Amino acid sequence: MTDKQTHLTVMGEKFIIAFHRVIHTIKIHSDNNQLLQESVLRFKNILSDMAGTGEFEVQIWRARIYFQGERLLYRRKSLQLINEMIDYFSERKLQGFCFLKSATDASLKDLLNFTRLSNESSVQDDPSAWLTIQLKKNDITWVEALQEVDEAKSGFEFQKKEHARQLYKHTVSDLMEVAVKVSRKSVAGVRKARRLVQSMADMIMEEESLFLGLTTIRDYDDYTYTHSVNVALLSMILGRHIGLSKVYIEQLGICGMFHDIGKVEVSKEILYKAGKLDNTEVSQMRKHPLIGVLRILKLNAPHDLKSRIVLGPFEHHLNYNLTGYPKIIYSKKQTLFGRILQIADSYDALTSHRVYRTREFVATEALSLMWSKAGKDFDPLLLKVFINMMGLYPIGSVLKLDTGEVVLVKDYPDETERTRPLVLVMEKDGQGGVSAVGLLDLSERDLNTKQFLRNVVKSVHPSSLGLQPSEFFLAETG
Ligand SMILES: [Fe+2]
Ligand SMILES: [Fe+2]
Repeated sequence: MTDKQTHLTVMGEKFIIAFHRVIHTIKIHSDNNQLLQESVLRFKNILSDMAGTGEFEVQIWRARIYFQGERLLYRRKSLQLINEMIDYFSERKLQGFCFLKSATDASLKDLLNFTRLSNESSVQDDPSAWLTIQLKKNDITWVEALQEVDEAKSGFEFQKKEHARQLYKHTVSDLMEVAVKVSRKSVAGVRKARRLVQSMADMIMEEESLFLGLTTIRDYDDYTYTHSVNVALLSMILGRHIGLSKVYIEQLGICGMFHDIGKVEVSKEILYKAGKLDNTEVSQMRKHPLIGVLRILKLNAPHDLKSRIVLGPFEHHLNYNLTGYPKIIYSKKQTLFGRILQIADSYDALTSHRVYRTREFVATEALSLMWSKAGKDFDPLLLKVFINMMGLYPIGSVLKLDTGEVVLVKDYPDETERTRPLVLVMEKDGQGGVSAVGLLDLSERDLNTKQFLRNVVKSVHPSSLGLQPSEFFLAETG
């Protein structure tokens, strides 16, 4: 989480708590009641803090709260409150409020008036339009009611997704261009690749789950390229989780993009062979990390950058206990980049469809298979972080619930506890496809029994439903 996000999250939560309290207290108590006076004063203080530096917006977008355009990352314990606020806004057909700087001077009476009008608007025919008129009539000029808009036409969330999708696509096609040049032995520059990776690093900081969703893209024709971009993304996100600086995260991204570049010298017959490889073929295949190094060194890029991105790709099949390939004598340890790439590479390879396997692994199977090799193939500590980062059910996995519902894992709203995700409910659309019909929170409990309302029975193959999880991260309806 960036400092800006942490700050907004803290302020945002305070704002929601204060606002929530006023809208409820005002329903029960008269204006001079002490409890109401206290709660409105608290609301005034937080409003002054936030509006003090300029106008600020609180908005709802697809069941999320945004402060100043930044998504509020809330803790599970405030989820109930957040949901109530979301309902409050949607009952009033409000997208949110924009508080102007002058809100800092609003009197307590004004604030009470505003809250009362906002509450009352719910019973009007066109609540948000009514509220706008009433605010004007009552001379309340320091706040604007933002009306719900047609989300297909606008919305920064939509733009963000589109931006992420374009970025992914451009990265894949740029990588293909570089690979073609490299295989023809002509000079390939990395300026563009570097720029794309930098943009991805920027976006990962705030929209991690969107990119984790994107890594479920499985474009079989371009396997090597989508695989490389996925490895780049997974490595970068893992790098972020262990607290690497942005410079390192970007270098990791470039390593990921080029980790298999040595495969340009391995013949297609070997790369796409359906059966088992014979010994000569295996040794051909195993040359790709070394060839990769030679190819990376020939790229048209600054020397210091190249020196930082050769070791990771060279070591991505080396294994944590050095039992992999190529054999090395220069060190007794796999480098950090090598260890990160090894994890990201194995995970993406295991969950992808490959001709030599009858079926790809479900995300959770891949993680437990990898865990069985912790300390051997993988750095156990890094793998723990990776598993925690992916969550018990990685974003993009499809689950069957004990209610019979089939759902797609969308997000983990709570960064620290990744066991009960937010999911999209999937239903057959009657035209041979599947569509998302709603959003559920698997952490919801029955109010009386305190039991979870829904539990996961098992993971299901996305392909068995004819489903491409990534599509739902780009254009889900839930
Ligand atoms: Fe490889
Ligand atoms: Fe790979």
